[in-house]
Amino acid sequence: ALISMRQLLDHAAEHGYGMPAFNVNNMEQVHAIMQAADATNSPVIMQGSAGARSYAGEPFLRHLILAAIEMYPHIPICMHQDHGSEPAVCFRSIQSGFSSVMMDGSLMADAKTPASYEYNVDVTRKVVDLAHACGVSVEGELGCLGSLETGMMGEEDGHGAEGQLDHSMLLTDPEEAADFVRKTGVDALAIAIGTSHGAYKFTKKPTGNVLRIDRVKEIHARIPSVHLVMHGSSSVPEDWLAIINNYGGDMGQTYGVPVEEIVEGIKHGVRKVNIDTDLRMASTGSIRKHLQENRSNFDPRKFLKDSTKGMMEICKARYEAFGSAGMA
Ligand code: G3H
Ligand code: 13P
Ligand code: NA
Ligand code: ZN
Repeated sequence: ALISMRQLLDHAAEHGYGMPAFNVNNMEQVHAIMQAADATNSPVIMQGSAGARSYAGEPFLRHLILAAIEMYPHIPICMHQDHGSEPAVCFRSIQSGFSSVMMDGSLMADAKTPASYEYNVDVTRKVVDLAHACGVSVEGELGCLGSLETGMMGEEDGHGAEGQLDHSMLLTDPEEAADFVRKTGVDALAIAIGTSHGAYKFTKKPTGNVLRIDRVKEIHARIPSVHLVMHGSSSVPEDWLAIINNYGGDMGQTYGVPVEEIVEGIKHGVRKVNIDTDLRMASTGSIRKHLQENRSNFDPRKFLKDSTKGMMEICKARYEAFGSAGMA
């Protein structure tokens, strides 16, 4: 059944677990997420980005998630719109039936330029007013995601960076978070604590703490009823990176967020953990391997089935590690 983010994350807070929120673009990702949820008895958050909407088309994306709701009536599913760049984007998703939207007012409508605090409050408040009147939950974002090493916002391919940020924006300020929540009324808040989007998060293998879990604690202490969200939380699995490169790929050496650090965040108030890159890597690795090992095959269902299986294993592992398994 379709449920709102608020309902789901309130349950997660009550029982002390975290929800992986997987990005979806195609049927295989939806299948993988649902097969894993069914096998582990976990609730589900599926989210569509602007990139997903332009790839699949909004009606296809929405109907893929609706098909999952129809096929798995016993599993609570939140249909979330990821990174809305302006209120109109969120209004459209609310109108078309999403149960949760993200207004990312940390950036201007170009989704690149850091926005002022006043702008962020203003656009987020507008979305909350309308969304709550419709029973839809809202996620806001305060602080800008970027590498604490370099200040870079996140790179598509490990070569060209998209933009450099001022160091003070890279960590969410707890006092400002409390003010933001008071002024906007958001249900969930994405915070900057050292994660960044994409595959190229850390250049060295993380040994100790790569995230500022102390910030999570400080923010959670000030706004305990608001569910904290970690974006950029792929773990960039070393085994999938090796498979991609061993079967003809060429990804650079890179490291993601260790699962244990996410689990630490969940202990201190993180309830939603966004994951996109890990499923992309499992899908690409599975397909590369299949095609190289089955050179005569020309039936796409065969390599797409392997893609689904690769992604499904990651989803299962995250449901189990974050404690949502058994909570559906
Ligand atoms: O927030 C970023 C997500 O990974 C979505 O990326 O815009 O390429 O679909 P995308
Ligand atoms: P990753 O690139 O780490 O998978 O993060 C995805 C994300 O934050 C989507 O909003
Ligand atoms: Na989101
Ligand atoms: Zn994100």
